[in-house]
Parts: sequence; C-alpha cells; structure tokens
Amino acid sequence: MALVRVALGARSYDILIEQGALDRAGDTLAPYARKGRLVVVTDANVAAAQLPRLDASLHAANIAVEPIILPPGEQTKSWRHLEQLLDALLALEIERGDHIVALGGGVIGDLVGFAASILKRGCHFIQVPTTLLAQVDSSVGGKTAINAKAGKNLIGSFYQPALVLIDPSTLDSLPPRETRAGYAEVVKYGLIDDPEFFDWCAANAQALLAGDPDARTIAIQRSVQAKAAIVADDERETSGRRALLNLGHTFGHALEADTGFSDTLLHGEGVAAGMALAFRYSARLGLCAQADADRVTAHLKAVGLPHDLATAHVRAGGAALVGHMLHDKKMAAGTLPFLLARGIGQTFLSKDVALDDVAAFLDADRTAA
Ligand code: NAD
Ligand code: GLY
Repeated sequence: MALVRVALGARSYDILIEQGALDRAGDTLAPYARKGRLVVVTDANVAAAQLPRLDASLHAANIAVEPIILPPGEQTKSWRHLEQLLDALLALEIERGDHIVALGGGVIGDLVGFAASILKRGCHFIQVPTTLLAQVDSSVGGKTAINAKAGKNLIGSFYQPALVLIDPSTLDSLPPRETRAGYAEVVKYGLIDDPEFFDWCAANAQALLAGDPDARTIAIQRSVQAKAAIVADDERETSGRRALLNLGHTFGHALEADTGFSDTLLHGEGVAAGMALAFRYSARLGLCAQADADRVTAHLKAVGLPHDLATAHVRAGGAALVGHMLHDKKMAAGTLPFLLARGIGQTFLSKDVALDDVAAFLDADRTAA
C-alpha cells in the first residue's frame, strides 16, 4: 500500500492507494465506524458497479452500511440534491463525530464534502474516489462545492476529508472516455513543474489507459504526491501556488461553457484542450519553445484527447470564447490571471494577458489547425 500524507497541521490526513483496497475497506474504515455503522453516499452508476464490493467488505468487518444513492451527473451538485442529502443524513441521525463516506467521482466527492462541512456545523467525511479524475485531483485538497445558476462550483467551502482511500481497480468499471478525461489531470502535474513525470506519462499513458494496474498506481501516487505538496503549501489558493493546478482551466472553462457544460466536452477533455491552447499561446508570445508546445499537443492527440477547438467540438470564435472567460470565477479587479508556460514543467501565473490578443490567438489557432 502506498501512503501519501497531506500535511495541514490539525487538518492533516492520509491518502492510501492500493489495488483491491475496496475489498479490504472493512479493516481500514473500522476505526471510523462509530457505533458500528457507516453512511455511504454514492450515485446510481457507482452503486451498481462498486458499492457491492465496499458493502461486502464492511459487513465482513461487522460494520452496518447505510447507503444513500443519488442520481449520477453534474446536475446532482445542486441545491435540490444538497437538501435531499442533508435531510437523508439527518434522518439517519448523523452526529458531529460521525464520518460520512463519499464513494464516487468528483460530483459525489464535492457534494458530500460540502454537506459534511455544514451539517451540524461540520462532521467528518472520507473520500473513496472511483474516477481517475477524482483519484488524482478532486478527492484531495478539500475543495467542496455545488453549482449555482450563475456558474459551476460557485457555492462551497474548503473542508478537508479525514482520509482518502483509493483503489485503482475501481477504474475497471469506468467508461474509457471518463478514464481518458481524468488522464488530462494526470499529465497536468508533469506540465506544471515535473518534466520527468511528463516523460513518464508519454511513455506509459497507453498502458495506463489500457488498465495496467502498476501504471495506474504509479500515476495516481505521483499525482497525489504533487497535489498534496501544493495543498500543504497553499491550502486556500492565496499565495498563487495552488492556482497552478488550474493549468488549462481558463481556456477549458470557455470551451466547456461554449459546449453547454454537457457530455459534448467532459471537464477533463476541456482541460486537455485548454492545456494545449495554453502551451501554443505561450509559444506565440515567445515564452515557450514551439517544440514544447508541439510535444504537448502531439501527446494529447496520441491518447485521443481534444487538443484544439475543432476536436473540442467548439464552433464559437475567439471573441465569444473570451466573453465566457469574463465570467470565470478567477476574474478579479477586471483582470483574469492566466497560466502560461516557459516550457514543459515550467508553468507560471501571468496577470498581464490581453484578452483581445487571446481572442486573436484562438481565431488564428483554429485556422492553423
Ligand atoms: P462524475 O463524478 O460525474 O463521474 C463521471 C461518471 O462516471 C458519472 O456518470 C459516474 O456515475 C460514473 N462513475 C464514477 N465512478 C465510476 C466507476 N468506478 N464505474 C462506473 N461508473 C463510474 O465526474 P468526475 O469527472 O469524477 O468529476 C467531475 C466533477 O469534479 C465536476 O463537478 C468538477 O467540478 C469536480 N472537480 C472538483 C475538483 C476539486 O478539487 N474539488 C477538481 C476537479 C474537478
Ligand atoms: N483542482 C484544483 C484544486 O484543487 O485546486
């Protein structure tokens, strides 16, 4: 079993990564099961594919399981489902000292984390992520949220889990497109500040996507090590270090907005195209070697991820896409911080990007593709 510690003083916690961990969760989670029971919140897809494994292992350890099963999909991160979840938790007489288990992808993790942060002014929760995106990113670091009419993730809190338990074998039932989208968040860590990890990704992505257990475990471990270090340094995204995790997200957010935050472009797919655009824009500005931008684009293309406006199914022109960026929640005092790169593994935050130049770049990039 690999163990990564998120060092946050009194809010520190462990991330445990082990193939088959779900089948041994009874032993791992026993210390968290007050009065011999655990409430497990999940969605209908995960309930069908993975809950029976967790259920069997908890029962074998004499832990009673109270499942709460929500509908799958981004729309579950809503006021309506938050209320439904809080009512269900209260009906089960959850107390402050209890731990709620979030079994699922980023949707379940974000919703359960937010519910835990406000229920009885805060009870505990445990992340058991079942998508690659959640295993390498959203289950770690304590960002919790639901969506508002005005935009995604606008209502939420920073609230750390008590434990993150990752079983890479849960990815066996995940649709390949979801795994590929989650892979964008893996390669992101290499692009931010670890060129050697980008080389590892280039050499091992196909094995990882084909389900190789060792490749999955290494990718998850290296990703959460990188994220844990960043979160320990800048938990609330105040120093600028945690903002590096948003590489590709400003372009990606505009692409997701243009495609209606729908299945046309999954979040990780938007991030992939966004990272390729950020590298090509950096090359256009003369900050980054064109060869590095080309290498990033070629890798994302090789693994079947969107890497430009056409492959992201985006029809809008540059001006309309920049219009979407103006609604980005990172917009502050009329400027939008942009993540650019001086090369692979050399991402930095720029505050002097001219949005009309970004619009011109997007139009030129479409024509050049
Ligand atoms: P998701 O939770 O919607 O899961 C994707 C799909 O896969 C769903 O249909 C789900 O039911 C299904 N699924 C999950 N695990 C499965 C499994 N093992 N087998 C079969 N089906 C499975 O999506 P996601 O990509 O995991 O997360 C996206 C969400 O994460 C977004 O809401 C995004 O805002 C959020 N997010 C949060 C953070 C953070 O730091 N908190 C970071 C990145 C993304
Ligand atoms: N996924 C970005 C962050 O956790 O800060």
